[in-house]
Amino acid sequence: MVPYASGVQPLDTLKRPVRDLRISVTDRCNFRCTYCMPKSVFGHEYRFMDRKELLTFEELERVAQAFVGLGVEKIRLTGGEPLLRKEIEQLVGRLGAIEGLDLTLTTNASLLARKAEALRDAGLDRVNVSLDSLDQAPFRAMNDVDFPVARVLEGIDAAAAAGLPVKVNAVVKRGVNDEGVVEMARHFRGTGHSLRFIEYMDVGATNGWRLDDVVPAAEIVERIDAVFPLEPVEAAYRGEVAQRFRYRDGAGEIGVISSVTQPFCGDCTRARISAEGKFYTCLFAVRGTDLRALLRGGASDDDLRDAITGVWSRRADRYSEIRTERTSELPRIEMSYIGG
Ligand SMILES: C[S@@+](CC[C@H](N)C(=O)[O-])C[C@H]1O[C@@H](n2cnc3c(N)ncnc32)[C@H](O)[C@@H]1O
Ligand code: SF4
Repeated sequence: MVPYASGVQPLDTLKRPVRDLRISVTDRCNFRCTYCMPKSVFGHEYRFMDRKELLTFEELERVAQAFVGLGVEKIRLTGGEPLLRKEIEQLVGRLGAIEGLDLTLTTNASLLARKAEALRDAGLDRVNVSLDSLDQAPFRAMNDVDFPVARVLEGIDAAAAAGLPVKVNAVVKRGVNDEGVVEMARHFRGTGHSLRFIEYMDVGATNGWRLDDVVPAAEIVERIDAVFPLEPVEAAYRGEVAQRFRYRDGAGEIGVISSVTQPFCGDCTRARISAEGKFYTCLFAVRGTDLRALLRGGASDDDLRDAITGVWSRRADRYSEIRTERTSELPRIEMSYIGG
């Protein structure tokens, strides 16, 4: 433990503090991205959570406050698709009021054009938009619900017009959308939106992940550098997940997230809460700690903080550093459940 403003800041067994919290606000989604919620598994019969199973906004605010008291500086709302959660702007309002907190949201942007202003007014600081390709055919092949690229671009424009800084995230899968990487770079250069490419990961047990489908981040950088020369940018802080590069001509920067080829567990400061209130210390964890039971069982704020501290202090996860083809077959929870 080390002293922290409002008490003590827990460190895990590898001396990592907790700095970022990702909160999944729903397990539902209107897309069926093949790498996340493949239709063959998450079809009509899949049992999503009932509303009463989800943490309420009051409960989420208490959880967020507890984590902020332990050192969290950044909260990202995710899912499933977070904009499908009814009145999400009310939650943004509650969390946006927490002092000194950087509040972001990750979305497929299907509802962003409609909601961007309300989200900004409620106190959202930034938005991350997922867009895997600018070409309709590969984008369709990945979202699997025939969602048009143009509507995602409208969402990005609406967020920017509302004054929200935008990051665009693309998962790259070999043979599906990797040919479009340079086109993405060309499109977003000079727009002020930072573009980040994410290596396809073996999250969950339903996407049929194979190492051969992963396009290494180094290859993505090489392909872009060949057309638009790049130079590396120093990491801004410990635990920054993206390796950043700037265009030598000053047209902005890109980032790559090499969680498969260059894992960064040693600096991982992220905690995750599922929509039903389970606390996970790794994207690849199998078991979570039931914070909802504590909240609904009358736990005080101190009880909640103690429970989180206890779990974090025992944390030893470093899955990505020990990943092999074989570990990818071990049981794991889905990204749409734990939140990406
Ligand atoms: C699970 S989604 C939830 C938020 C929202 N629905 C969205 O797509 O932005 C969060 C992020 O996880 C990424 N993701 C999902 N499955 C992935 C995988 N197998 N490998 C890498 N990234 C993945 C998505 O592309 C998205 O950027
Ligand atoms: S990546 Fe996001 S948009 Fe795609 S299925 Fe998963 S939760 Fe939905």
